[in-house]
Amino acid sequence: MIYNLGSINLDMVYRLRDLPQAGETLSAMSFDRFLGGKGVNQSVAIAASGEPVCHIGAVGPDGDWVLSEMDRFGVGTGSVARIEEATGHAIVAVDDAAENQIIIFGGANQAIPFEWAEERLGDLEEGDFVLCQNETNLTPEVAQLVSDRDAKLVLSAAPFDAEHVKTLRPYIQVLAVNEGEAGALSSAFGERPQDMGFAMLVVTRGGEGTTVYSDGQVFEQPAFRVNPIDTTGAGDTFIGSFIARLSAGDTLETALTYAAAAAALQVTKPGAAEAIPHRDAVLEFLKERS
Ligand code: RIB
Repeated sequence: MIYNLGSINLDMVYRLRDLPQAGETLSAMSFDRFLGGKGVNQSVAIAASGEPVCHIGAVGPDGDWVLSEMDRFGVGTGSVARIEEATGHAIVAVDDAAENQIIIFGGANQAIPFEWAEERLGDLEEGDFVLCQNETNLTPEVAQLVSDRDAKLVLSAAPFDAEHVKTLRPYIQVLAVNEGEAGALSSAFGERPQDMGFAMLVVTRGGEGTTVYSDGQVFEQPAFRVNPIDTTGAGDTFIGSFIARLSAGDTLETALTYAAAAAALQVTKPGAAEAIPHRDAVLEFLKERS
């Protein structure tokens, strides 16, 4: 089983020719609302990859729309608490090169009640995966529960916070970082991430591909070449799909190739969760590219 203590955001997405510089005011060419949040994007990727996921999180009184979107993408909302704080949101600027700048407001994501999460993890078993990112509260508390049950903690260290990684380091089984975060990790700890003792380290390098360090072995997965429209949520798609396929029993290499294909397809459409491809589309894409 896969659990995800994960953020849920309303993404307000503005398309711009170029990303804004400090002090600059720009007119957007378009505006859209999408379901987002690193956590929920990962849960959508897990569901789209064919695996069940228990998404643990919180929304506010204004959370009806994001909950209905989660439903639409096959992610159950029974473990999402309704609390007083406003639903989290993100302001996302996307430029013509498909790159983005994101400002997040945590809101309800930062106020998930501990008792709520603890109860949802009541059936957690040895070997289950529990995903976390740096967009919610409770990650240290949940890491302790995960460790007590011999389950596997998967941390996406984004947005990057060295102190947070330091606190969680003894509990992390799988650490997922992008290249920039890997560099920040090295600077903060004075050692290479691959030497820090994680059972598995996943380093995503955007269009350059992904490197996984596991059991003393190094696996390289090149990125599939596509024409990107919007890269928001590509990393989340990658890690959600990867863990889903590992949990389903795929080999590391098969899961890695599947995740790379899912992420490649995801960047060809606008939006984060909205753009995550279903397993059938990913398998079709892999057939075409083989
Ligand atoms: O990783 C992309 C996500 O980061 C967006 O969906 C946004 O909500 C922020 O959490």
